[in-house]
Amino acid sequence: RKRIVSGVQPTGSIHLGNYLGAIKNWISLQNTYETLFFIVDLHAITLPYDAQKLSKATRDTAAIYLACGIDTSKASVFVQSHVRAHVELMWLLSSATPVGWLNRMIQFKEKSRKAGDENVGVALLTYPVLMASDILLYQCDFVPVGEDQKQHLELTRELAARVNYLYGGRKWKKLGGRGGAIFKVPEPLIPPTGARVMSLIDGHSKMSKSAPSDQSRINLLDPKDAIANKIKRCKTDSFPGLRPIFYYNLEASALLVIFYIVILLLEFDNPERPECNNLLSIYQLVSGRTKEEVQHECQEMNWGTFKSLLTDALVDHLHPIQVRYEEIISDSAYLDRILAEGAAKASDIADATLSNVYQAMGFLRR
Ligand code: TYM
Repeated sequence: RKRIVSGVQPTGSIHLGNYLGAIKNWISLQNTYETLFFIVDLHAITLPYDAQKLSKATRDTAAIYLACGIDTSKASVFVQSHVRAHVELMWLLSSATPVGWLNRMIQFKEKSRKAGDENVGVALLTYPVLMASDILLYQCDFVPVGEDQKQHLELTRELAARVNYLYGGRKWKKLGGRGGAIFKVPEPLIPPTGARVMSLIDGHSKMSKSAPSDQSRINLLDPKDAIANKIKRCKTDSFPGLRPIFYYNLEASALLVIFYIVILLLEFDNPERPECNNLLSIYQLVSGRTKEEVQHECQEMNWGTFKSLLTDALVDHLHPIQVRYEEIISDSAYLDRILAEGAAKASDIADATLSNVYQAMGFLRR
């Protein structure tokens, strides 16, 4: 069976972007593939963080995975730091990673610019090498992530190919190994809708855990009132209603297309309606409707009507997750057992890969 791995950082609260861009897609994948989902606690220390809160956040994230529908009879769920091979492989991989590759990472550039050089730990630079190690240890085929991780995935692929070239094949065979590729080169799986959920207060920046305003995101554990309030106050645009965007998407008559172009010209400074696109995509995903159904349902609506529809759909979708989360988080023995089983299974796969890498790189084995 083909294998899938992915993970979320236990920093701040898990929001709708993490859910729609990643976790929600994992649920359907676990039926078809062998899946491993981890909580990347080692990544969570790459920016200043609160040591008093890390272990609780790690548990919460695990409970959220399960509450969202990760089924541990099918998938392994574990904590990254519980499987030592992640850090060990990272060191080996970092010797084959050009610093130039890391300096080019958009997330590194953005985060280090915000924090300033003297405040940025080396781990923020080497973060993608740890991520590559998370993935390559498991010889997986696909990695389901949101769009912001695409560049890190590209680096992972290049690094896998580089290590295969430097140490794999005949060179490895001469050292007594099986030869061939050391790592499988994985593919990203990025969903067609939801891969980039935008902030509720600015349609040009993505929804993120680190944005200072909580109004910018819907957290998965937000109570009903908070959701209603955030949607009520979220940014919309000055187009009349939700119509123009649908003319663009519809297989419309020529007249509608001309009408749409006229509207575009009138609203030239904001032709793509990012807020509108974002809210409609969220509605599509949480209501379980198709894009066409949403187009049909919403095209005559004004913002007020749509916002209350969206609030109800969000509350209906998130409520059962919140109820399950409360059950799971209150049963700490159960959660511990799941995480221990997950780590044991993951370690078996990871240790085998790690042992191959040591051998191929020429280390004296015990
Ligand atoms: P993290 O914790 O920032 O985000 C977890 C997942 O959520 C996706 N995501 C989004 N998707 C859509 N819209 C958004 N606004 C949005 N914000 C976040 C991310 O793309 C990601 O899929 N480096 C990773 C964690 C990681 C990892 C890995 C992932 C570490 N090792 C190995 C896959 C495989 C990260 O910081 O994700």
